[in-house]
Amino acid sequence: MIETNEFDFENRIVTGEYDEVQDSEVEYSLRPKSLDEYVGQTKAKENLKVYIQSAKLRRESLDHVLLYGPPGLGKTTLATIIANEMGVNIRTTSGPALEKPGDLAALLTNLSNGDVLFIDEIHRLSRSIEEILYPAMEDFFIDIITGKGPSASSIKIDLPKFTLIGATTRAGQLTGPLRDRFGVLLKLELYTTEELAEIVKRSAGILGISITDLGATSIASRSRGTPRIANRLLKRVRDFALVKGDGTITDEIAKLALDALEIDELGLDNVDRRMLEAIIKFYAGGPVGLETIAATIGEETVTIEDVYEPYLMQIGFLARTPRGRCVTRLAYDHLGIPFGGGIK
Ligand SMILES: Nc1ncnc2c1ncn2[C@@H]1O[C@H](COP(=O)(O)OP(=O)(O)O)[C@@H](O)[C@H]1O
Ligand SMILES: [Mg+2]
Repeated sequence: MIETNEFDFENRIVTGEYDEVQDSEVEYSLRPKSLDEYVGQTKAKENLKVYIQSAKLRRESLDHVLLYGPPGLGKTTLATIIANEMGVNIRTTSGPALEKPGDLAALLTNLSNGDVLFIDEIHRLSRSIEEILYPAMEDFFIDIITGKGPSASSIKIDLPKFTLIGATTRAGQLTGPLRDRFGVLLKLELYTTEELAEIVKRSAGILGISITDLGATSIASRSRGTPRIANRLLKRVRDFALVKGDGTITDEIAKLALDALEIDELGLDNVDRRMLEAIIKFYAGGPVGLETIAATIGEETVTIEDVYEPYLMQIGFLARTPRGRCVTRLAYDHLGIPFGGGIK
């Protein structure tokens, strides 16, 4: 067994998950406000444009929208953009924040016609809250139970025609009845290097950072398809440009900085490398079950599945088989380990 403290998950730069320390200061200012500013996700964007325009023509509220995909791809951003484009208000909450039925009832009854209620991490809603949502989403009313025992009675309250936008890392984590009540399901995909380079240049412009095209591409190619990571790397590289260069982020400065941060050309950090090496060393490269990997590196299975794996699978380093995860030959080559040889 390896020491799980080899795996430093704290303040990891290359995960898409929101990190208060690293992201809070710039995330808001970097958020695109309109669909035209929102880079990439062409398919989701084109479809959304049609639905938004149609709802406006019909003078009706937009259908409920479910956004799903790994963290940091722009779900929260897109929810605010939808509200902006519809010209309505947005109220934001999250699955774990809604504890009592009254919390949700208060939010719903305070909405105006057409408003957006955004529920982040919607897969984490409790069952009792979820059941209030069903009639609210379908027929725009809620039943509030007052009193207890024999004197209990229920009052039906009509709601405005609101739009629920839910965000989750995986649509599969949602219960069937909840998922079925969304009219629009949008899957966000990992971004291409070109799209990320555009995002990096846009963010640099907003933050007043000077950057060359090659510098932007260099950061983009190590950002694991994830805008949040790209923005984070941009800030770190900027520091190196100021201290080790003349303030401009060039290709050389970007490479220097990312090497110093131990992020390789594919955007992998020590945690990725150690995880892959552990599977090779202890399980001959797999197949190995997700639970076993989780126990080996001391991380939760859902985090591995939702946060670490999507990119490793996208670049073909990890394969999902019926008997478990396998490290591929590509990964062996990248790590410099002879295929089938194992490591000492
Ligand atoms: N399509 C995009 N174009 C430009 N910037 C984006 C895009 N998507 C996300 N971002 C940036 O990435 C950061 C994370 O996005 P966010 O919407 O919070 O992701 P999620 O909610 O999926 O975790 C935001 O600061 C935003 O500026
Ligand atoms: Mg979010």
